[in-house]
Amino acid sequence: MSSRPGVFPVSDEWKWRAWLDERGYREAYQRSITDPQGFWSEQAASLSWFTAPRKTRDVSFEPGEIRIHWFEDGVLNASVNCLDRHLHDGSRAAIIWEGDDPSESRTLSYAELHAQVCRLANGLRSLGVGKGDRVTIYLPMVPEAAVAMLACARIGAIHSVVFAGFSPESLAGRIQDCESRVLITADEGVRGGRRLPMKANVDEALRHCPQVSTCVVLRRTGGEVGWTEGRDLWYDELVARQAPACEPEPMGAEDPLFILYTSGSTGKPKGVQHSTGGYLLAASLTHKYVLDYHAEDVFWCTADVGWVTGHSYIVYGPLANGATTVMFEGVPGYPDSGRFWQIIDKHRVSIFYTSPTAIRSLIRDGEAPVRRSSRASLRLLGTVGEPINPEAWRWYYEVVGERRCPIVDTWWQTETGAIVIAPLPGATATKPGSATLPFFGVEPVIVDEHGRILEGACEGMLCLRQGGPGMLRTIYRDPARFVRAYFDAYPGLYFTGDGARRDEDGYYWITGRVDDVINVSGHRLGTVEIESALAAHPEVVEAAVVGYPHDVKGQGVYAYVTLKTHVRPTAALREELVRRVRRQIGPIAAPDAIQWAPALPKTRSGKILRRMLRKIAANEAADLGDTSTLADSSVLDGLIQGRREAATVALAERV
Ligand code: WT7
Repeated sequence: MSSRPGVFPVSDEWKWRAWLDERGYREAYQRSITDPQGFWSEQAASLSWFTAPRKTRDVSFEPGEIRIHWFEDGVLNASVNCLDRHLHDGSRAAIIWEGDDPSESRTLSYAELHAQVCRLANGLRSLGVGKGDRVTIYLPMVPEAAVAMLACARIGAIHSVVFAGFSPESLAGRIQDCESRVLITADEGVRGGRRLPMKANVDEALRHCPQVSTCVVLRRTGGEVGWTEGRDLWYDELVARQAPACEPEPMGAEDPLFILYTSGSTGKPKGVQHSTGGYLLAASLTHKYVLDYHAEDVFWCTADVGWVTGHSYIVYGPLANGATTVMFEGVPGYPDSGRFWQIIDKHRVSIFYTSPTAIRSLIRDGEAPVRRSSRASLRLLGTVGEPINPEAWRWYYEVVGERRCPIVDTWWQTETGAIVIAPLPGATATKPGSATLPFFGVEPVIVDEHGRILEGACEGMLCLRQGGPGMLRTIYRDPARFVRAYFDAYPGLYFTGDGARRDEDGYYWITGRVDDVINVSGHRLGTVEIESALAAHPEVVEAAVVGYPHDVKGQGVYAYVTLKTHVRPTAALREELVRRVRRQIGPIAAPDAIQWAPALPKTRSGKILRRMLRKIAANEAADLGDTSTLADSSVLDGLIQGRREAATVALAERV
């Protein structure tokens, strides 16, 4: 395969420098499928257990007996794996924090991180938090976000991190759903030279969360904040009184480590629940083999801790492996678009993991900002979050990596907890745009619309017949929704929600979501949530939201809005609707385009035909397919006409 056009073979140097070469990968993968018990019990030994598990995989995707259990009789603590076992070399850097302002950075050694985690863990215990209790974390990208996660893990509390860009309303919904009584936040966040009103958002959210008894507030900027006596507590005052050692809670491998809310195709966000043992093993193993982590590396994942990528590849994976992990508070374009490359030089980053959106946004500014840096420390590049277009892949490979760094395009989801389809850099020849082959233990299958499993080269819906130990265990307190969302569509299989193609080499090419979920800049949004925000406006009758191709974001948010008959469609109303979505969900969900739609295409039973709306938004109206199911097909012509006139000029950024 190596000499074919469009295929990037593994270099000789990488064959020996990486953990596994092609043969090593094939053998390990085969064994993970044919002898899963033997394979996984060996892998589990890479974690440090209070009681080593004798059980390994106990998983069923069969209707009526959906069950995902791994290492069930094992006992461990995630924070011990991420901290205590690295203390023999306690002065080693655990977290290198780079502030939004380039003059600010901070390094925390393993010993310091351990002490900080213990202090906060003791502080949380003093507030009455214990095993199984939920703690919501709403923090900007500061080391204390990792400290807070690990402090929860230390005492067996389940953390729920909410991305700092979410609105008060979204935050409130997530606090209510998991009924946390303690919240950890900051006075303000800092991003791109601007301050984010974190505590003010919290104060608004907590008006709807009477069960929250304590709000712990970290001083990030020292900005002025509102204060509720008896409820609010300064972080530094809470930890100042605490001892720098804390007895870790022994946790069953299946005890939940965290919940992370993610958007689904229907209703409110789902609380994806992850386990302690299986999740930690999946995060650390993939960090080792896919991101090829070795002891001398400096590893940087640019995601936010508020998303699963930050959980697995800023915090749990790297720290479980004793790595030095970089955490960046800012944005790629501030103070200028050379910032990523300056940080790589400053901290001698050797493995860099980012999103296609970030790459595309930097391509716009040309090669000069990249060329001004040396990037000599870099040896491996990764991407995650959305399909990477071959042009962006090539730019990343040629300009950023100067053809010396392999690229690992990693496909996974909040639900899988860790990477499940990706190349191993010493083993897998790559093809720009393909996430390539499955990781250990993972059996992807492609099915047609009737659920028939397709063989060989094919295209269809991507399912998993078997997943890794990092798979979600359930939807928090909603096991019925868990089954409905992932296992009802294709009995016996986990349905990913993605479409995919498999080529003649068995490589997977993810084609994007096939459900009512869109992926904007690598952030997952449920179109139904955005529709509800729009439809709640008093002048709106209904709204339909679809994704459409966007140069930088991958997908943009395109909203069709039907107004009440007497209402005039004005530019001001359009901007008001965008502001409403920002306020209700968060800036990431703001529509990029709003088209006034006198009516929406529906079936006779009233179901909106989104497939057609997607085509119209993408300017592919020539190819609308079968329109015979429409109740009134004249609606389409009006929409196609309106599409030509719709203002799609970066509405989301202007408002
Ligand atoms: C969805 C999951 C994985 C952590 C960040 C996003 C899309 C993710 C890739 C990739 C093509 C990708 C899929 C997936 N996706 N990685 N390498 N190539 N698509 O997590 O918010 O749960 O979103 O992101 O559509 O289903 P998430």
